[in-house]
Amino acid sequence: MCIVGGGSVGSVLAYFLHRSGVQEIPVYYASRESVVEVENQGGVVVVEKKSGVEYLVPVKPRHCSQPVDRCVFVLNTVKAIDVPHSLELVSKIACESGVVVMLQNGFGSLELAEEKLTGLKVACGVVYFASERISRTRVIYYGGDTLLVGCRKKPCEELSVLAEIFRRGGLDFRVVDNIDYYRWIKLAFNAVINPLTAITRSRNEIVLEEEGVRLAEMIIREVCEAARLHGYNLESTRLLKHVLRILEDSRENYSSMVQDILAGRSTEIDYINGFVARTLGERGVVNTVLTLVVKLLEKSRRRELKE
Ligand SMILES: NC(=O)c1ccc[n+]([C@@H]2O[C@H](COP(=O)([O-])OP(=O)(O)OC[C@H]3O[C@@H](n4cnc5c(N)ncnc54)[C@H](OP(=O)(O)O)[C@@H]3O)[C@@H](O)[C@H]2O)c1
Repeated sequence: MCIVGGGSVGSVLAYFLHRSGVQEIPVYYASRESVVEVENQGGVVVVEKKSGVEYLVPVKPRHCSQPVDRCVFVLNTVKAIDVPHSLELVSKIACESGVVVMLQNGFGSLELAEEKLTGLKVACGVVYFASERISRTRVIYYGGDTLLVGCRKKPCEELSVLAEIFRRGGLDFRVVDNIDYYRWIKLAFNAVINPLTAITRSRNEIVLEEEGVRLAEMIIREVCEAARLHGYNLESTRLLKHVLRILEDSRENYSSMVQDILAGRSTEIDYINGFVARTLGERGVVNTVLTLVVKLLEKSRRRELKE
């Protein structure tokens, strides 16, 4: 079992694997600095926010330029923007009969992996936990313990083995038939929370303000329209309630997009709101709230980079 991307999601998955008794967990990083720091510390520290308990997860750090493992399962947890580069490494370390699980938010990463990794089974994981990487060797795990996984192209019976391992470690790992349906639901959540918190540089609770809820309503209607064009009938009122419920539970969290913006990194907006805006744009639906949100976020980011 190998993890490509030792950031917040990769480290939390390593934590569950270790809790289930997996001893050897190779984790690949993009930078030499991460490899050295993780090596010096003897692994990554995952801090459980609720209990304050700290776990040292003794992962084996590897650099992406040195593919030394042969892995039956590869969990790809790099950011969407890094997926193209990561697939070269994945193709070198995955066994012929291996399964690659793509865990990025939004649309585009799974599709690219399915196109490029011919011959391998490619699954998608929809992550329902939240974590934040506060340094190269330290990750805060905020909570949530569900991971939905499924394959679209070929049947992946192998996923039941993975499910058993993760469940033993305490992760509610569920194999589902219709992973795209869950991707759309998660997309609605991300399309609301990420840009609204990023534009306002705020915690999730900002979206629960009256104006936030009204914008959320508009964005969700557009996501439902895009989903319908892809053959999924989502009910916007129910979806809004679902999103607001998650927001209530995660009031204090900073979304990954705020974290990216504050750290001056690229965001995944193109894979989330951008994907929906493009879907609607191709059908002649222009000037959507989503498009305006994407443009506003891009402008504010460009302005900050210049300053
Ligand atoms: N954070 C969350 O709570 C959460 C929840 C749900 C879904 N997601 C999604 O999960 C994905 C990963 O997010 P994250 O927050 O875990 O990212 P992250 O903390 O930024 O970590 C990304 C990791 O990928 C590594 N990496 C980049 N390019 C690589 C390559 N070519 N080969 C090997 N490793 C490479 C980086 O290495 P370095 O350390 O050397 O930079 C880093 O360790 C995103 O799509 C995000 O939307 C996140």
